[in-house]
Amino acid sequence: MVEAERMRVCVIGTGYLGATTAACLSEMGFEVIGLDVDEDKIDMLRSGRVPFYEPGLDELLAENLKTGRLHFTTDFAEAADFADLHLICVGTPQRDDSGAADLRYVNSAVECLAPHLKRPTVVVGRSTVPVGTAATLAARLAALAPAGEEAELGWSPEFLREGFGVEDTLRPNRIVIGTNSPRVEKAVRALWQQQVDEGTPFLVTDLQTAELVKVSANAFLATKISFINAMAEVSEVAGADVIQLAEALSYDDRIGGKFLGPGLGFGGGCLPKDIRAFMARADELGVEPALSFLREVDAINQRRRARTIDIARQLIGGNFAGRTVTVLGAAFKPNSDDIRDSPALDVAATIASLGAHVTVYDPQALERAREAHPELNYATSMLDAARDADVVLLLTEWAEFREANPEELASVVAQKRIVDGRNALDPTFWRASGWTYRALGRQ
Ligand code: UGA
Repeated sequence: MVEAERMRVCVIGTGYLGATTAACLSEMGFEVIGLDVDEDKIDMLRSGRVPFYEPGLDELLAENLKTGRLHFTTDFAEAADFADLHLICVGTPQRDDSGAADLRYVNSAVECLAPHLKRPTVVVGRSTVPVGTAATLAARLAALAPAGEEAELGWSPEFLREGFGVEDTLRPNRIVIGTNSPRVEKAVRALWQQQVDEGTPFLVTDLQTAELVKVSANAFLATKISFINAMAEVSEVAGADVIQLAEALSYDDRIGGKFLGPGLGFGGGCLPKDIRAFMARADELGVEPALSFLREVDAINQRRRARTIDIARQLIGGNFAGRTVTVLGAAFKPNSDDIRDSPALDVAATIASLGAHVTVYDPQALERAREAHPELNYATSMLDAARDADVVLLLTEWAEFREANPEELASVVAQKRIVDGRNALDPTFWRASGWTYRALGRQ
């Protein structure tokens, strides 16, 4: 392996994780080649356009293309020739036929790359995979690569949050590398030397532990969200207020306030599919009961969507047919245009299927939403979306919605009724403007 400052890195996969990783590593001074099998994506990235919305990434991409340290390709031979370290950053979505992870893209990355690895090379997986995957891939890599055992594979999960991808990559809260190879460890240490020097914890584990760190972190986060949402269910019937409850819990620093935000629950391309893949893997390993609580976590999360729809239905008198409904938010969370398993869009589509005329507005995700749900109506501003609404649902807590002016919104709607699916608004303030305000877990 060459010295850190001259190490050349290939990032395989240029989605949220890969494109962000490639631009950030280049920003850190490495020479980077980003590889994807999707030619359109590579063309866009080459011309300085990011194929999705991630704050700060456009600028970083443009700057680093200019430095000449960042390139893109669709050619595995070119990437293998160029790089000393390959990072696998492809997606592992949920399979169509079960809750398990679809490993076709990670398998294909190894199979396409390996035949070109003629010199000693380190390959590090960053994608989220079921425990046991990395060991299988390591064997496959060594079998297919002309370099044989000198083509070594480790696993180093990423923990970046969409919307904060640049920050989380440049300043990770920990680096975990699963490997028993000193060469792999050295390469990964060199990659993050700057961060480690600044205090980022660096943990070396076996392959299985590294894989498990990622899925158990996401399982924990999902559990925490569903825990507070379960408390919201109880609060509603018991006459309590889940926002005050969450605040009171948060002062116990063993519990903490993060990811204790009650509301419509989690969505996105990670938490939902990761807990399902984790359960599927536990089942295969014969330890299904160990994770059966995750089934409940998933069920609580789904019930939040149904409950949100119920509250809106009650507000308009029990029937959606022929009513005008406004949905604020389509992305699975603010500061993202990702609509994968978006609770907001799911709710919008269900309400439309019940006969309402649903208009959706989102600051960034409109295009993707329209593609996925052409049956819904879309507006290009909050006020346009809210025109003549019988009820407004706030389902993704973009700053624009949090800061919405109740008087201004009141001037366009037919009825001043709002369902705050994210507990993002101040009920007193909205009620003072004459709105009927409802939220999950509150009276
Ligand atoms: C998540 C993890 O937070 C990252 O650490 C991880 O690296 C990433 O998945 C991944 O596996 O790649 P992300 O999917 O970007 O990141 O989104 P989060 O910020 O975790 O939010 C997930 C969902 O939970 C969102 O729908 C959000 O609205 C919801 N949420 C979050 C709540 O409902 N309540 C909360 O208190 C917090």
